[in-house]
Order: sequence, then C-alpha cells, then structure tokens
Amino acid sequence: MVKICCIGAGYVGGPTMAVIALKCPKIEVTVVDISVPRITAWNSDQLPIYEPGLDEVVKQCRGKNLFFSTDVEKHVSEADIIFVSVNTPTKTQGLGAGKAADLTYWESAARMIANVSKSDKIVVEKSTVPVKTAEAIEKILTHNSKEIKYQILSNPEFLAEGTAIQDLFNPDRVLIGGRETPDGQKAIQALKDVYAHWVPEDRIITTNLWSAELSKLAANAFLAQRISSVNAMSALCEATGADVTQVCHAVGKDSRIGSRFLNASVGFGGSCFQKDILNLIYICECNGLTEVANYWKQVIKVNDYQKNRFVNRIVSSMFNTVSGKKIAVLGFAFKKDTGDTRETPAIDVCNGLLGDKARLSIYDPQVTEDQIRRDLSMNKFDWDHPIHLQPASPSAVKRVNVVWDAYQATKDAHGVCILTEWDEYKTLDYQRIYDNMQKPAFIFDGRNILDGAKLREIGFIVYSIGKPLDPWLKDTISMA
Ligand code: NAI
Repeated sequence: MVKICCIGAGYVGGPTMAVIALKCPKIEVTVVDISVPRITAWNSDQLPIYEPGLDEVVKQCRGKNLFFSTDVEKHVSEADIIFVSVNTPTKTQGLGAGKAADLTYWESAARMIANVSKSDKIVVEKSTVPVKTAEAIEKILTHNSKEIKYQILSNPEFLAEGTAIQDLFNPDRVLIGGRETPDGQKAIQALKDVYAHWVPEDRIITTNLWSAELSKLAANAFLAQRISSVNAMSALCEATGADVTQVCHAVGKDSRIGSRFLNASVGFGGSCFQKDILNLIYICECNGLTEVANYWKQVIKVNDYQKNRFVNRIVSSMFNTVSGKKIAVLGFAFKKDTGDTRETPAIDVCNGLLGDKARLSIYDPQVTEDQIRRDLSMNKFDWDHPIHLQPASPSAVKRVNVVWDAYQATKDAHGVCILTEWDEYKTLDYQRIYDNMQKPAFIFDGRNILDGAKLREIGFIVYSIGKPLDPWLKDTISMA
C-alpha cells in the first residue's frame, strides 16, 4: 500500500488529500500539521474550513484511509510520497520584504523531512513557491541525507476556494514537473498514477520543474490581471455611461477571450493573487526585468485603486461624510462559499469607512466576530501601495458591530455595502430593508449581484460598479 503524508492541513492540504483518499481507497493518506487546534478540528464534526461538499468527502474516508495527526515526524518517516502544503506568505521583514515569498515554513519542513527519513522519498511541492525552490529544497535534503534518495516534484494546486471539491474532482489540468532524469521521470509516473485514479490522462500535464513552478505564478497573475482589466474598464464605464456587464458580455463572446472571470467587483482578494504577483515581481526584479516587473505591479495598483474608488464613491455620495453614520456591510469573506478573509477587499473598504468615522454593522454568514476584529486591526505590510488604506485604530474598531442577520445589520443604516457575492443577499426582502433604513437610503453593490432597477423602484439610491450612474451619484462626482 502506497503511503502519502501531507505536511500542512490548510485550505489546500485538507481538501486535496481528502479527495485523493476518496478516489484512491488503496492509498493511506495522513495529513499532518503543527497546529493542534487545526488537527483537532479536522478530527471533529466542525471542520476548520468551510468548503461546499468537503464534509461529505471527509466523512466518507476519515478513519478508513484518511487520517489527521500532529505526529508529523512519524508519518513523514513512514510515507513514500510527501506533499508539502505549508503556507508561503509574503516576507514582512529583511531582504525582499513586501514582495518575496517567505519560505521559512517550507525550509523547516524540508529539514524535518531530512532528519526523520529512513527510506527513499518523493517530495512534492504543493505550496506555491518561487521558481527554483525545488533546487533549494533538493540541496537541503541531499546535504542532510543519510544515503537516502529524494526526488522533488512540483505539483502546484489550481483549486479555487469556494469550489475546491468540484475543482479537485474535475480539474482543468493536473500539472506535474520533475527532473528530466530516469529517476525524475519515475517519480513523475508515480504521482501520475495517483491522479490517474480519477483524472483523465490527457489532463495530466508533465513538464520540467521550473515550468511547473512558474506556471502556477503565471496562472494566478493572468487571473488577477483579468480582474484588474475588467475593474479598470468599470471606472471608464462609469465615466462614459457604458455598462460594464454589457461590455464584458460582448467582449467575452470572443472565443479567444471567453466569458468566465469577467465580472467587475470591488477588487480581488484571497491569500494567493496578491502574494503570488508580488512574488513574480520580485523574481522579475532579481532577474533584472524591471519593465516586466512594472507591468505586473500595475495589476495590484489597479486593485488598490478599485477598493479606494469604492470607498470614495460611498463617502462622496453620502454628502461627503459618513462620520457617525451607520453603514451596513454585507459580506466580509473574500468571495462567497468560503469563510476565508485573507486579503479580502472588505478589510480595506471597512478601514476606509472607519477612517471617515463611519459606524459599521457587519454581517457575513461564515466569518466570526473575532476574525473580523482581528482583520480590521491587523497591521498590513507596507509595499509601495501609494493608496493603501491604514488599519483601523483601536477606537475605530469600537465603532464596528458584528451581527448574525442582514436585517439587523441594515436596521437604521444610512447605507448598505455588498462586499461578498453570497447568494442569500440576492433574495433578501429589500422593501423591508428600505423601510427600516434612514433616508435617503443608499445601496453600494460591490459585486453587481442586485437588480438596480428594482431597488430604484423601491426608492434606493443605487451604485453598481461599472454601471451607468444614478443622477444623484453623477451630481456628487465633483465632490469626490
Ligand atoms: P494555510 O495557511 O491554510 O495552511 C498551511 C498549514 O501549514 C497551516 O495549518 C500551518 O500550521 C501548516 N504548517 C506550516 N508549517 C508547518 C510545518 N513545518 N509542519 C507542519 N505543518 C506546518 O495555507 P493554504 O491556503 O492551504 O496554502 C498552502 C499553500 O498552497 C500556499 O503556498 C498557497 O499559496 C498555496 N495555494 C493556496 C490556495 C488557496 O486557495 N488557499 C490555492 C492554491 C495554492
């Protein structure tokens, strides 16, 4: 029986390994983590992450061929294939701070593998890492090895939070990079055999190590660039009277462009896009490619611009001040169907509104009050974001109220901001919400999920990103 061990029981390690266990009943899969609360939660009925379909998958295999443990060394030493799926955040201090990936967790995992291994291992990079990380890992492993052979593979993960299980069941592609030596090819085949249990052969791509590592950074950069392109267009739509939804529909009909991932919004978030682009920028700069680095920097700048623009639009339409006004914030997670708030645009928007002394009432079906308070007071590292919004001061965070109901959040509010596209926000009783709000009542739809015309009939003043502006909003542009 092949034994797999995955180091890191996070958003990637947990779901990925659960699906491997489900699809490969003859493989024993153990997910290990240094975090005791995380592993305890994986072994309980309340999994540490919310992901549609994940509970069912875990329930089917846990205790059979899927295990979660904090006994990292034991399971690593027993495994044939070790996935490393630890976090690789942006460095906050020292050389490359604010851009380069922090590989501390990776390095400590690699050193531990070298220390405890007693048999040959295939070590798989599941985390997103800079190009050439495999070479560094190889050095750590081989310099510390006791005659043990290691093969390093790059197998970046392309799942998206919110649809992780669906993405893992039916991936567009699985990418495996390895050394172009006979041993490297043998290792690639061993990992291919795992995925071949459910992924059609033509969707398993094999490349050299550096192509696989770079492909993940490139894919995230392309996706984020697409969002920034649409968002840049949304600003122009508002200025000209064009409608970004109509423009994107027309543009997306071009089969070279395609219609998916073309929605204007308050900005992208999540733990990966910004971090991976910053990492790409750093790699470009290290290779003397300043122009290329500047090109990708702009993707992040437009994202910051979009969040800032949204805040300015709210403040300027509400008579240029939100001081003391109650603003209901619907949605805090960075996208629907996840409780993940890492780099969520809601942090910047809320901090922007708090900076203008608003009172916030926040409701998100999956994010706890503790998490929201932590996020709003967190110090963000300072890259060269010219318009980056500051974290909220302790007194500002006191003006935040977190509630568990959209009607409570919106009661007596002057304005409502939609910051996450949760389906339940589409079917709220907006007449009831309007009746209980201060007048004039404003809605700022940062995800374009509501029917603006219907809301206007009720009496709301509506702002939808990239859509023709209400006369009210046009009049206030000059105040912004
Ligand atoms: P995460 O922060 O949710 O999980 C990482 C886990 O690794 C944590 O539970 C941490 O305690 C554990 N860990 C760190 N060092 C360890 C060590 N030495 N031994 C044992 N456990 C250790 O991170 P997430 O979101 O799962 O991301 C992991 C990697 O996958 C990152 O490189 C990320 O860029 C990449 N990725 C993330 C995606 C996402 O949607 N979250 C999608 C695709 C890739």
